[in-house]
Amino acid sequence: MATETREQAQTEVQDQGQGALAGKVCVVMGVQNRWSIAYAIGEAMAAAGGRLAVTYLDDRARRDAEALIADRPGAKAYACNVEADEEMDALAEALGRDFGRVDALVHSIAFAPAAELQGRFLNTSREGFRLAHSISVYSLIAAAQRVAPLMTEGGSITTLTYLGSERVFPRYNVMGVAKASLEATVRYLAADLGEQRVRVNAISAGPIKTAAARGIPGFTEMYKYATERAPLKMQTDPAQVGAAAVFLASDGAAAITGETLYVDSGYHIMGM
Ligand SMILES: NC(=O)c1ccc[n+]([C@@H]2O[C@H](COP(=O)([O-])OP(=O)(O)OC[C@H]3O[C@@H](n4cnc5c(N)ncnc54)[C@H](O)[C@@H]3O)[C@@H](O)[C@H]2O)c1
Repeated sequence: MATETREQAQTEVQDQGQGALAGKVCVVMGVQNRWSIAYAIGEAMAAAGGRLAVTYLDDRARRDAEALIADRPGAKAYACNVEADEEMDALAEALGRDFGRVDALVHSIAFAPAAELQGRFLNTSREGFRLAHSISVYSLIAAAQRVAPLMTEGGSITTLTYLGSERVFPRYNVMGVAKASLEATVRYLAADLGEQRVRVNAISAGPIKTAAARGIPGFTEMYKYATERAPLKMQTDPAQVGAAAVFLASDGAAAITGETLYVDSGYHIMGM
């Protein structure tokens, strides 16, 4: 009888999925393709036992978003343009309907018009500045407004940032200013949401070859330089970012909020 009980318990654990996120509902926003950081985070969260929901911008991204959820029972993919309030509302409604609650939200979304990532920062246009901040920063606030109420058992919100928020990287331009705003947004949201046990953090990733990164002229140079200079002498692997996202969403990070966690092989500590 005692053996049966132990076996039953083991089966139950397997049903819930084993790992740091067993049974947690994890929403990952910003899958563009298989190279997206969001894709690696989704894979890591599912491997850690999370129940996965992913979002993608448009039809071009749908196929890869659907590939990410394939063969994961109960996983869902939703289209969501963060510039459209009605699409954000529909996403929150669908998450409530399909999952009942949310435990972890990952925001892996950024955009700046190509013209803003060339030449001098001085020439930033009003519209380029507005769009970069609206898509890359305000969308985190808009997502938190709608998803925090679904975090009925506490939760974790994580966004993706880059060292260009603190240091000047040629041609990263307005995106660096947007990332500085994003990191401040993380702290203000963390202060507001702490009482309901919702934690808000950022991962500052080293350069990774993705669609967004290829849009930054000189990215290859940044990538090479960071790898050469980083204490660990290695490039940032999206799977390492995935592992950090799993940690921040897990109960192990229960006392961590308002933080920026660097996953960059230590590059940010170097002076020269
Ligand atoms: N790749 C890097 O080197 C690196 C380093 C540090 C931080 N980051 C950050 O990681 C995050 C993910 O970028 P990535 O490198 O995986 O590139 P990516 O191109 O795969 O992801 C960017 C995502 O933003 C989405 N997006 C853009 N406009 C949108 C809109 N209006 N509505 C909804 N989604 C929209 C795109 O569809 C895409 O899914 C970004 O915040 C980026 O700044 C990237």
